[in-house]
Amino acid sequence: MNCDIQVDLGDRSYPIHIGSGILDSLGEACKTAGLTGRCLVVADENVAPLYADRTFQSLEKAGFFPALTVLSAGEPTKCQTQLLNLYSAAAAHGLDRQCFMVALGGGVMGDLTGFAAASWLRGIRFVQVPTSLLAMVDSSVGGKTGINIPEGKNLVGAFHQPELVLIDLDTLSTLPPREFAAGMAEVVKYGIIRDADLFDVLERNTLPQRSCFQGSEKIGDVIARCCEIKADVVRQDEREGGLRGILNFGHTAAHAIENVAGYGQYLHGEAVAIGMVYAAHLSVVLKGLSIEESARIEKLLTGLSLPVGAPKFAWKAIRTAMAVDKKTVGGLPKFVLADRLGHAVFGCEVPEELLEEVWDGIRQ
Ligand code: NAD
Ligand code: GLY
Repeated sequence: MNCDIQVDLGDRSYPIHIGSGILDSLGEACKTAGLTGRCLVVADENVAPLYADRTFQSLEKAGFFPALTVLSAGEPTKCQTQLLNLYSAAAAHGLDRQCFMVALGGGVMGDLTGFAAASWLRGIRFVQVPTSLLAMVDSSVGGKTGINIPEGKNLVGAFHQPELVLIDLDTLSTLPPREFAAGMAEVVKYGIIRDADLFDVLERNTLPQRSCFQGSEKIGDVIARCCEIKADVVRQDEREGGLRGILNFGHTAAHAIENVAGYGQYLHGEAVAIGMVYAAHLSVVLKGLSIEESARIEKLLTGLSLPVGAPKFAWKAIRTAMAVDKKTVGGLPKFVLADRLGHAVFGCEVPEELLEEVWDGIRQ
C-alpha cells in the first residue's frame, strides 16, 4: 500500500508518507518539502547498520550532503548528555539554519533528534523516518520532542513539527517481536480513545492469529488509521490545551512505572499497557465504562503478549512519580479516562484513596 496523510497545521503542515520500500525515496521527498543542503542523520546502533546506507544513498542522490551520528540504543539515550553530543555533531558538520536533521529509528531517536533540531541555532528543520511501530503510529507525528531527566520522563522538551514523516512499512520486518508488541499498545490506545471499530478490528485480527498482522498490507492500514487519528487530534489542539490530552490515555501511570523502574526495564509500550488497564479500572468506577469493556481491553493486551498487572513497586514511589507527571496540577495528577470504547475524556480528577485502591486491585 502507498498513502499520504496530511497533518494540517497552517504554515507548519506536513505530509506523512506511508508505503512499502519507500525509504529509497526519502531524498526526493525532502526535496519536495523544500529542504536543502547539509543534514545530520541520527540513528541508534541497531537501526544504523540496517538502514543508514539506504538513507544516505537516497539523500545523496537527491543532492543533499548527509553526515551520520550513531548513538546507543534504548531509553537512557534520551538524555542531556546525548543531546550535547548531537549539538557537537551538528557543529562538526557545519549545520547552519538552512540545514536539517533526520531522525532515523524509534521514538527515542525521534524525540531526541527533534529536540536537538528544535534548539540548535534556536531551531532548524527536521525529518522523521520512524522504523519502530510505536514511532510510526505515535511519536513521529505531532511535534512533541524532548528528553528525560532524572526527575521524570519527557520533562524537558519543545513542540517542533517535522517537515515530513516517511514510514517505510518494510522496516518493520527487522523489528524484534517484543518491540512490535510494545507498539501495538499505542495502537490499542487509539481504538480505546477514538475508534471503537479499530478496536474491533484488533480483536478480530490479533486474537488468536497475531502473526496475520505482520504482513505489510494489513498493518499498513492500521498504521494509516492511527496516523489519521493522531493528525486529526493534533490539528485541533497542537499544543495540548485540551483535546490532545486524550492521547495520554494510560500514560500517567506508565510514566510513573518507567520512572520508578528506571528507564529501560519496561518498554514504553509495555508500561502504557499496564497504565491503560489502570485507567480502564478507574474509568469503570468514575466514568461508567462497563466491566465488560474493561475486560476486553485487558484481554486484547494480554493476547498481544503485553503486561497488564501493576509491578510490585511500593505505592508511595509510584504516587510520588505520578506527581511529577506533566499533567499534574498542584500535586494532583489529571487522568484521561474512557466512558465507553472509542471515547475518552481528559482532565479527570481521581479521589486520592481510589488511586491506591485501584492500583492494588491490578497488582501482579
Ligand atoms: P526506541 O526508539 O528505543 O526503539 C525501540 C527499539 O527498537 C530500539 O532498540 C531500536 O534500536 C529498535 N528498532 C527500531 N526500529 C527498528 C527496526 N526497524 N529494526 C530493528 N530494530 C529497530 O523506542 P520506541 O518504542 O520506538 O519509542 C519509545 C520512545 O518514544 C519513548 O521515549 C517515548 O517516551 C517516546 N514517545 C514519544 C511520543 C511523542 O509524541 N513524541 C509518543 C509516544 C512515545
Ligand atoms: N503521545 C502523546 C502526544 O503526542 O500528544
